[in-house]
Amino acid sequence: MTKQVVVLHGDGIGVEVTEAALAVSRAVAREAGFTIKTETFKVGGASLDAHNVPIKDAVIHACKNADAVFLGAVGGPRWDNNENDKRPEIALLRLREELGLFTNLRPVQVFEPLLGASTLRPEIINGCNILIVRELTGGIYFGKPKFTETTGSEERAVDTMEYRTSEIERIAKAAFEAASARSNKVTSVDKANILATSQLWRKTVSRMAEEYPDIELTHMLVDNCAMQLLRNPKQFDVILTENMFGDILSDEASMLTGSLGMLPSASLGNGIGLYEPVHGTAPEIAGQNLANPLAAIASAALMFRFSFKMEAAAQSIENAIQKVLANGLRCADIAEDGRKTIGTKEMTQAIIDALESAK
Ligand code: IPM
Ligand code: MG
Repeated sequence: MTKQVVVLHGDGIGVEVTEAALAVSRAVAREAGFTIKTETFKVGGASLDAHNVPIKDAVIHACKNADAVFLGAVGGPRWDNNENDKRPEIALLRLREELGLFTNLRPVQVFEPLLGASTLRPEIINGCNILIVRELTGGIYFGKPKFTETTGSEERAVDTMEYRTSEIERIAKAAFEAASARSNKVTSVDKANILATSQLWRKTVSRMAEEYPDIELTHMLVDNCAMQLLRNPKQFDVILTENMFGDILSDEASMLTGSLGMLPSASLGNGIGLYEPVHGTAPEIAGQNLANPLAAIASAALMFRFSFKMEAAAQSIENAIQKVLANGLRCADIAEDGRKTIGTKEMTQAIIDALESAK
């Protein structure tokens, strides 16, 4: 058996963490008796430099025909002043839109050995395990019109926040199903005291909940949620929210784990899945063997779970992460003061060793 994976390193540390995740994936595949075949393409800044577009149509096409897509991260200061259609981030948005990846799963799991790495007190975060279900192909990211114009002496910019019932229904379904496999609690986050899209969101999610009698649904305003995540994060199980709120809340929630370098993600739709760490390209540490590969490696676990339907393999990767953390191995971002740190390559090898020793 062969699994075809399209690999999109992107920019900055995207390159090294993707290689780490692939090395781990290959080790797991070897053990499970199959081969991972990869096809690699440039996206983001790398594609802009080489082809003058953030992503080529041929790359989207290849992704559509793969078993899964693995992406590092895109962007960097070199391209920050590019005009809109020449920005690296456009690559991500096109992939999400054209592959129909409307469900973004961002698990936020606090690992006991890392309790001291968070800026929050251990008793606040100990045992925290949240799944953020972020709508990924709608809302203000994609709404039209979207433009900047010059009117008289100043400029005027417009973004449009837009949701349709069907878009809300399908992401609510994903959240309810995910919650059914967890503790049956969903907090739907919106800004229904102000936004029309949020009022439709709340109405639709409430109606959908009637089909899931076991689910305990609560609604929360996004500003309150931002506060509650720091005050008492253990009240949350599944957080269901729209695109931009999910973007912001997931970076905030990552700090419960100690580092953005720990957060994996899966973007799913009706077919292909795309897997990427939540963190960005961290250009200041790129190429120096300093990046924490654990978010990317945990994203590989999600690829085995959701695209390959290999739950045991997914768990073996997650167990290996637990084990290396319990053994005290740390990259710089999750190290407590004065602790010895290891690099990207050493962390990756430690995970592979932990997988081997678990056989
Ligand atoms: C994320 C990122 C992206 C987003 C950017 C890079 C376009 O922040 O995946 O969270 O805003 O969705
Ligand atoms: Mg983000």
